[in-house]
Amino acid sequence: MIKQRLTKAIGLSLMLNAFLAVGQTDLEVDINNKIAGIQPTMYGVFFEDINFAADGGLYAEMIKNRSFEFTVDPFLGWDQPNSDKHSFNKNSGIGSIVKYADNTGNTNFIRVKVNDDKGYELINEGFRGMGIKEGESYNLYFSAAKHSGNISKINVEFIGENNTVLGETSVDITSTDWTDYTAQILATNTLAKAKLKFTFEGTGEIDLDMISLFPVDTWKGREKGLRKDLVQLLYDLDPGFLRFPGGCIVEGRTLARRYQWKKTVGPIENREVLVNRWNTEFNHRLTPDYYQSFGLGFFEYFQLSEDLGAEPLPILSCGMACQFNSGELVPMDELDPYIQDAIDLIEFANGAIDTPWGKLRNEMGHPKPFNLKYIGVGNEQWGPDYIERYKVFEQAIKAQYPEMIIVSGSGPFPDGDYFEYGMEELKKLNAEIIDEHYYCSPEWFRENATRYDSYDRNGPKIFAGEYAAQSVAIASPENRNNWECAFSEAAFMTGLERNAEVVNLTSYAPLMAHEEGWQWTPDMIWFNNLQSYGTANYQVQKLFSTNRGTDLISVTNNGKALTGQNELYASAVTDSGTNEVIVKVVNTSNQSQEVAINLKGEKVYKKGELIVLKSENLEDENSFENPDKIVPVTAEIQNKSGRIQLDLQPYSVSVIKFKTR
Ligand code: AHR
Repeated sequence: MIKQRLTKAIGLSLMLNAFLAVGQTDLEVDINNKIAGIQPTMYGVFFEDINFAADGGLYAEMIKNRSFEFTVDPFLGWDQPNSDKHSFNKNSGIGSIVKYADNTGNTNFIRVKVNDDKGYELINEGFRGMGIKEGESYNLYFSAAKHSGNISKINVEFIGENNTVLGETSVDITSTDWTDYTAQILATNTLAKAKLKFTFEGTGEIDLDMISLFPVDTWKGREKGLRKDLVQLLYDLDPGFLRFPGGCIVEGRTLARRYQWKKTVGPIENREVLVNRWNTEFNHRLTPDYYQSFGLGFFEYFQLSEDLGAEPLPILSCGMACQFNSGELVPMDELDPYIQDAIDLIEFANGAIDTPWGKLRNEMGHPKPFNLKYIGVGNEQWGPDYIERYKVFEQAIKAQYPEMIIVSGSGPFPDGDYFEYGMEELKKLNAEIIDEHYYCSPEWFRENATRYDSYDRNGPKIFAGEYAAQSVAIASPENRNNWECAFSEAAFMTGLERNAEVVNLTSYAPLMAHEEGWQWTPDMIWFNNLQSYGTANYQVQKLFSTNRGTDLISVTNNGKALTGQNELYASAVTDSGTNEVIVKVVNTSNQSQEVAINLKGEKVYKKGELIVLKSENLEDENSFENPDKIVPVTAEIQNKSGRIQLDLQPYSVSVIKFKTR
């Protein structure tokens, strides 16, 4: 009997718990209780040339290996279908690479010998093809010099399957001296995998270099510029900063292959081509044709930051190659050139136009300073070697530029030996901003919404510089940009926002990936040669960034922050520019949940806005076929004397906005 009663009582209490778990959650929002400012840099973007993000992506160049500099095979990307290395090619012709001594970065060109102009063809395959659009024009550029014979014209055609011609032009060749030629091709069809074919009129030898092709329709219409659709996706994020150029690419697999910004500025033909460090990083995703042309170099990164209204945040090598690879170290007494690179970069960005580096910026078309405020020392370094080098950089930079804010790093993991050591040492050094990285499971993101609650408010500020939920495992090629990852990041981001006093900058990583040319997944934006789309993770980032507000206020449930109770998460801000109160609530459960929000302290207008991002299944994704599967939907809502009653959908991210009166 007693046993029966006990079982009944336990049953009742379980039922009650179940009821409470799905019962209404009351939230109190104290509009006047401003806890901290939300930094304009709170939500930014992390750009790295991984996954064909720059060459083959954002940088709109369509010719792969335009100056025949790819080191493993200078013909990579080029095809001569009617030529045979082991014959005189009497019925066609053949090109050879000429390497000349010069002090500029690029020393190769192609010498084309045409024996029979009806037979010889030179074809570039683009970056997994070239995306061309019917009715759009493409600018062709090349340098040429007649070496011998009577070659008088070069014909250029877009070709599709079976050599169908999809646009053409021709250029008269006039000189035996190196001369720059330009022409335009109108595409007569749309194709993601076109190629560009060159044929010649006359016979003899002709030298060619810097063969380049760009859409006319680039971002801001800049010649030789950036891919418009991809920059637009970034622009729509309203990022507070642009971190560049990475990532591990900063460090290089070896020191010789580190990112050297000075080699990425000035005339593009002099920018020394370098093998991309992601070329051979993963055996399961080898990309032998991945090089860096640096057409998207430091000037262009600064310019892009300006276009986006984002603070430029360059990260520089601190004399350590990637510790996941060779981990080569520059001896301490040879660190000077690396430090000088940092000092000179500040001059390049901000210096007067009569300073050596400011002069170059001016010559490149930007007399006004770029107003650089932040500089990063090292990417994802760890251990005493890093701290030793960081100290020297910090002293040197601050001695000359005391106002410059230095970003340091706590290594690749969110916890463990390396992390704890780095944080402890950097705190001792009064580091200003520390970059933390976490590539973890979606559960980790949901469980760590309180990560920063215990961080010292007077300690270093935090830059959550690289994070993304990994559906399988870190850098697994099976990882998906699915809805579970995205809403788990949203849950975590309420924790970032709630700790805006400490967390000043955040960015998802990596940013972009080419459908075929990728090495790392998940990525925030996917593209191919014609299309691009924002993933569900992109939509989450955009929702937070475009509703970032200016001041953090409190949102509580029974006096406590909402950090996973009933699988709900929340943060709240006000925006002094728009006079709005903005509440973000994430429901990570598979049940709809009743939530009542009480807006206190200020009167608000009756009508407001509810923006909901949701999807039914954890595995749901946006895709090329269905890019808008998971996008926000906006509806009007009302409050009654400051009380808003909501039925939060399962697996949803909601933004509630009311204007104050
Ligand atoms: O985002 C991909 C890589 O992850 C970055 O290059 C590196 O910093 C991190 O390990």
